[in-house]
Amino acid sequence: MSTLSPLAAAFRKTSYIVGGHGRKNIQILKDALDGIDGKLENDMYGNGESIESFQAEMAAYLGKEKAVFFPSGTMAQQIALRIWCDEKGIRKVAYHPLSHLEIHEEDGLKELHHIETVLLGEKNHLIRLSEILELREEIACLLIELPQREIGGELPPFEELVAISEHCRAKGIKLHLDGARLYEVLPYYQKSAAELCALFDSVYISFYKGIGGVAGAILAGDEAFTVKSKVWKRRHGGDLISLYPYYLSASYYFKQREPKMGKYYEEAVELASLYNRCHLVTTLPRVPVTNMFHVHIAMPKEKLEPILVGLYAETDVGLIHYLRESSEGVCSFEVSIGDAFAQIPKDKLKLTFERLAAMLK
Ligand SMILES: Cc1ncc(COP(=O)(O)O)c(C=O)c1O
Repeated sequence: MSTLSPLAAAFRKTSYIVGGHGRKNIQILKDALDGIDGKLENDMYGNGESIESFQAEMAAYLGKEKAVFFPSGTMAQQIALRIWCDEKGIRKVAYHPLSHLEIHEEDGLKELHHIETVLLGEKNHLIRLSEILELREEIACLLIELPQREIGGELPPFEELVAISEHCRAKGIKLHLDGARLYEVLPYYQKSAAELCALFDSVYISFYKGIGGVAGAILAGDEAFTVKSKVWKRRHGGDLISLYPYYLSASYYFKQREPKMGKYYEEAVELASLYNRCHLVTTLPRVPVTNMFHVHIAMPKEKLEPILVGLYAETDVGLIHYLRESSEGVCSFEVSIGDAFAQIPKDKLKLTFERLAAMLK
């Protein structure tokens, strides 16, 4: 028996979907491995030509001395913060109250590493430079997430990042970048990854969000930092005997999709404006600054869900498969643009939003 919600079931039946790169299934891995010579030697416990060449490529892309492949960002970032705390002899770090480490990692940083956290700023806005300047507590590291996912993917101006970086360097505070969506921010800043990462001491990037790979992460920094990160990776059980399904697919989709980030960003701006034309609908940010944004619809879930189910059946276009009730009578969801958006015929998209606008009136 299906356990799908009526909305998820209706979404699954549509021929076109608005977000992501298409339906998620194991074809993602099959496609990535298709063109690879079966005689290619696998990696062993983090060593081997194929993993090392991918790491070197990513280090060059990020403008860092070295890069290490990890099975997950959760593992990589806890390790990065641990290394900086050990180096500074201070068991305290600061980050946004809605940081992934704070709300999605079951307190791994606190439970495994006994690191205290300072939550900087408010939940509903980006960390401000003034809040960093006013911080009186001694911290080893400040983590900045670009874009700030839980508030719709907002970004500070580049000049503010430069000022944060200069302040941290002057104070001896290590600056770490949660760059789970790093490629996605580059078109807005009009900077290369290396130019942006030069502001940070350590950087994590992901391969299954905008890139759409299977899983996996890179942690990059100077040589001494990455040597320590490999020791911690072993301690965390992150040295799977082989990680090739992850880094080979990461490499395959990175090459395909990193160059398309500017296009995804423009399409996100186009889609957000279609949403904003509908009564009761607002996007956060109103004009996206990356390929992602959040949609808020001022209608209770029990009223909105049947409207969307009807819309999908009528138009064959699926907008979203879930609704979160973010506050009393308001639903929200996240949109991330990838390859799927360009597959929707323009007249179909136009019709879908005309119908949505009419249904929400
Ligand atoms: C901003 C951010 N940081 C870190 C992570 C952790 O990545 P992983 O799922 O690879 O552990 C995520 C995952 O969603 C994320 O969105």
